[in-house]
Amino acid sequence: MVATHTLAREAVSPADAEMGDDGGVVVTWGDGHVSLYSAGELPAVFGSNRVAARQPMPEGVGISRSGGSPAAGDIPLEQLVASGALEIDAGLGQEQYTEQVLDNLAAYGLAFVTGVEPSAAATRALLEGICFARATHYGDFWDFTADLEHGDTAYTNLALRPHTDGTYFTDPPGAQILHCLEHDGSGGDSVMVDGFAALDALAAARPDHFDLLSSTPLRWTYVDANDVYSAVAPAVTTDAAGALRQLRFNNDDRDGFPDGDASTVAAYYEAWTHLMGLVNDANAPWTATFKLLPGTVCFFDNWRTLHGRTAFTGKRRLAGAYYSAQDLASRHARIKRA
Ligand SMILES: [Fe+2]
Repeated sequence: MVATHTLAREAVSPADAEMGDDGGVVVTWGDGHVSLYSAGELPAVFGSNRVAARQPMPEGVGISRSGGSPAAGDIPLEQLVASGALEIDAGLGQEQYTEQVLDNLAAYGLAFVTGVEPSAAATRALLEGICFARATHYGDFWDFTADLEHGDTAYTNLALRPHTDGTYFTDPPGAQILHCLEHDGSGGDSVMVDGFAALDALAAARPDHFDLLSSTPLRWTYVDANDVYSAVAPAVTTDAAGALRQLRFNNDDRDGFPDGDASTVAAYYEAWTHLMGLVNDANAPWTATFKLLPGTVCFFDNWRTLHGRTAFTGKRRLAGAYYSAQDLASRHARIKRA
């Protein structure tokens, strides 16, 4: 190991750089030391992997069947598969399989896996094959129906407006996995919203609204009989280069408006309702509405993709879990370095 702070400045300045065999870079430093950066690790070394990889949601997933469409209902499974879903028996090894899921998640904010046995055990096996889950006060894995077990609207049969989960954590879950194990009634369509695309539209129309949402700390709170979680953070977080990094957005968890005089609060309210309108636009290109059927598991990036659902009747049983963003990033980076 070298104590780099003891090296002369010339020693840590590049003397030469050239393309490596695999599209990476070979750097020769002032003291003759040579560093090899493979193509796979360049984004992690020199930029933000997550942001650079961002692409719009695939066309098949981006089709909204709600709103004005009389054909509200399922997106055909073959359309999901065509837009990047993986079949669980696709013959991939665990490593390749994990890489595909994490690639799709990083690019689109969504990933689907089809052909999964609709059981809690099979869902859990799929989940843990990719990465260990992040435990919260909901546990490390859910298998639930609308029984109000927690003081949370997810445990009802009400419609849920698009939101991100865990806004009240200092580190909101990075991703979520959802599997509808059974549903014998109607409704209950899943609504997925590319929050970053909605923010791009908001920033283009009203840069001042974007500035307010990304610079104003808000308090977010969850309270039930057993737990009190609270965090203070802006709705929108960007990285050092100004690229979108994280969206926190749940009107039910928002604990008031920011401190300030009436005009400050009024301006913030206008920015908030602007974004609220965009992410609740069922016909926007960033909104996808589809029926999640037993056998298809949906992964989504909880820092980018908002999720909601329409109201439903009957018994609807869901299984799912959270991942930490950093745990997934570590898994992804290790695979890319291999
Ligand atoms: Fe949720």
